[in-house]
Amino acid sequence: MMMVPRTAMVPEFLTPTLKSSRRYFSSHGQFGVAVFRFGGRRFLNPSRVFALSETSKLVTEFDPEIPLERASTPPTSWYTDSQFYRLELDRVFYGGWQAVGYSDQIKNNRDFFTGRLGDVEFLVCRDDNGKINAFHNVCSHHASVLASGNGKKSCFVCPYHGWTYSLNGSLVKATRMTGIENFALNEMGLKPLRVAVWGPFVLLKVTKTTLSQEELVTDDVVAAEWLGTSVGRLSQGGVDSHLSFICRREYIIDCNWKVFCDNYLDGGYHVPYAHKGLMSGLDLETYSTTTLERVSIQECGGGSKAGEEDGFSRLGSQALYAFVYPNFMINRYGPWMDTNLVIPLGPRRCKVVFDYFLDPSLKDDEAFIKRSLEESERVQMEDVVLCESVQRGLESPAYDKGRYALVEKAMHHFHCLLHQNLKL
Ligand code: FES
Ligand SMILES: [Fe+2]
Repeated sequence: MMMVPRTAMVPEFLTPTLKSSRRYFSSHGQFGVAVFRFGGRRFLNPSRVFALSETSKLVTEFDPEIPLERASTPPTSWYTDSQFYRLELDRVFYGGWQAVGYSDQIKNNRDFFTGRLGDVEFLVCRDDNGKINAFHNVCSHHASVLASGNGKKSCFVCPYHGWTYSLNGSLVKATRMTGIENFALNEMGLKPLRVAVWGPFVLLKVTKTTLSQEELVTDDVVAAEWLGTSVGRLSQGGVDSHLSFICRREYIIDCNWKVFCDNYLDGGYHVPYAHKGLMSGLDLETYSTTTLERVSIQECGGGSKAGEEDGFSRLGSQALYAFVYPNFMINRYGPWMDTNLVIPLGPRRCKVVFDYFLDPSLKDDEAFIKRSLEESERVQMEDVVLCESVQRGLESPAYDKGRYALVEKAMHHFHCLLHQNLKL
């Protein structure tokens, strides 16, 4: 595991992409069929057909109809197989809403940030009219990634040959193109993505396909699609926009993205063994788990440390841990909220982005912030060790499937949602 600074480039460890060898992927009925295209002709590739049907078999190795009490966990191939990973990107990550940032990142006109999910490079910005836009962050000329990091810009100039795009995505300058025929600036703009803001979060619908810029969505529709009936519960639990952004921490972890999610969703099972420091701040007897459509909510009262003698209380009297399928966690405790976005980087590697928000009355209390972040960091490092250990165990020939404990209800719910999403 390593920590990287916020602006550092993260190495990508993605498996070879379908796109890279000009393959086109579609599915017909029960069987996925890989179609190769060469020189305008299309061929079915038998080995790819075999691979996909093998992958779909892996999906069926978990049966969501079996109740938790009798169920086995998904097989290790879900956590190690590169074809299974490709299927997840296509079905789980492309097409649904994803929290990719927080609204303060695009608070003012000309603010922007960038990111990557699977093969999709994206760019989110607020234009000069205050409108939030999102695009595939790829230049229309020779496909260079256009913008990097985050900050403020009045336009995006491609670092390769200088083509320039406005903040609404239109190409405003194509350098040295005089004499080129059938070339129209207005046909070469950035490809839009669907973007929305809910509370403090910026959401993207990450799709490989392009959409027309006119397709707008309202906040209500986004909330219903992303959070379902848990919207009110989260708002009541203190998940809202009034908190101040404090900082971001990023972790690269040598485990499948689901190992991190599973660890989060075990209903506090590992806390007494792996987080002894955290345990004294929680009353595990009060731990409860609720599952609602695509969201699970774990709640826990504060423990003996909640009102420490020296007045330091990071967790407060009640902690709420909400998991939004497939990869976003919202943790609300005491004056703090932190969010964890789990980004897959390959079958055996992921990046987890922690964003910390604090009640504005404490945002200048440096000692409190420092101590809270140190405590939080300690818990993260303990979890990283667990997750990397689990990944190594999953790759051992000694293990294939495990069992659930009753407290791991949210984890079982997560696996059922995955199955539903992945089945052909
Ligand atoms: S790739 Fe962007 S200008 Fe050439
Ligand atoms: Fe943990």
